[in-house]
Amino acid sequence: MKESAPLQVPFFRPSLGPDEEAAVLAVMRSGWLTTGNEALAFEQDFAAFTGAAHALAVNSATSGLLLAMDALGVGPGTAVVTTPYTFVSTALAAIHLGARILYADVEKDTYNIDPLAVEACLAKGGKDVRAIVPVHVGGALADMAAITEIARRACVKNPRVAVIEDAAHAFPSRTVAGFAGTLGDAGVFSFYANKTITTGEGGMVCLRDKEAAQRVGTLRLHGIDRPVWNRYTSPASSWEYDVVAPGWKCNLPDILAAIGRVQLKKADSFLKSRMAVAQAYNRAFAACDFLQIPPDGEGNAWHLYLLRIVPEKLRINRDEFMARLQEAGIGVSMHFIPHYRFSWLKNHYELDGGRFPNAERRFQATISLPLWPGMTGEQAAAVVNGVIAIGVSHYAR
Ligand SMILES: Cc1ncc(COP(=O)(O)O)c(C=O)c1O
Repeated sequence: MKESAPLQVPFFRPSLGPDEEAAVLAVMRSGWLTTGNEALAFEQDFAAFTGAAHALAVNSATSGLLLAMDALGVGPGTAVVTTPYTFVSTALAAIHLGARILYADVEKDTYNIDPLAVEACLAKGGKDVRAIVPVHVGGALADMAAITEIARRACVKNPRVAVIEDAAHAFPSRTVAGFAGTLGDAGVFSFYANKTITTGEGGMVCLRDKEAAQRVGTLRLHGIDRPVWNRYTSPASSWEYDVVAPGWKCNLPDILAAIGRVQLKKADSFLKSRMAVAQAYNRAFAACDFLQIPPDGEGNAWHLYLLRIVPEKLRINRDEFMARLQEAGIGVSMHFIPHYRFSWLKNHYELDGGRFPNAERRFQATISLPLWPGMTGEQAAAVVNGVIAIGVSHYAR
């Protein structure tokens, strides 16, 4: 097989250095590889950084969503309101717990769930609805004030409607009300390789309620009733334990937690660098009538740069535009393929794009451009020049 030439500007590069290497080496030499002191310290560091009442490290945001939903009452016979414009695991977490999804379209101009559509879903789901899951797509925040107010009003009639933020893209998103991921009943962060901070794979669940946090802690390790990680190392620790719930294996090992602790210290400087690239893109693209720059707002974490083409102004569609960018050596991606386009979800829920006109319009026009903290000015300029050159040469006159 012939190797393809490397892209001039890759879509993403993780920003890891000697500090992360030293932290991993220290764990390897400590003799304790799996969940232990480092994971505990990472949780404490994360809670101190964000002001979260409880922070629990897990092996992915997918696991975190599953655990948070379970702890907040999502289960068989219940329903969860979320958007089709998110990664598939937002919905699959609820589906694995036996809940059904009520899909709400995104807002007319953003990538985030529309509070009015959430209200319509609540009216449809009635007392079955246990959670609303807004997603801060690309790091731009959903309308949390409206969504938490809708949930508060729904709680008067329903047993309990929790707000669980899918904050996979939204670290560190500061707002006057607090960090994204701590604004609802629970928030779930991802530390997947291309996220704003990374542990390779990993996540964090933040919760307001102590009992819910205890349940997440129990469920993430088989449903075992107490911390048992030090049973091999501490003379005070006993081998005995009970299993009090059918849990899963979702713990974050110390090797990865050690990387997370270093990355956490760099989170703000990473954000500054991503923001500088995003602003350079905005400045260049705002003047092009065949492009639409991404929505911004308070606390944007700028995980993704979601550029929209204006289809009526171009002779090529989004797919062709992406292909031209790749031919020009620019790495691109697509966030997101809406859930109604996945065969299982489409068939299971009898979904089609017609029910979600805003999500479908976003899908038809969006391209994710390269954005990571270590990007150079030359790389950002190459992306700008590539995008504008393709747009100009396919402009619909
Ligand atoms: C919006 C959203 N939610 C959840 C996830 C799942 O994250 P993880 O890969 O850590 O399970 C992702 C992953 O990219 C995501 O984009």
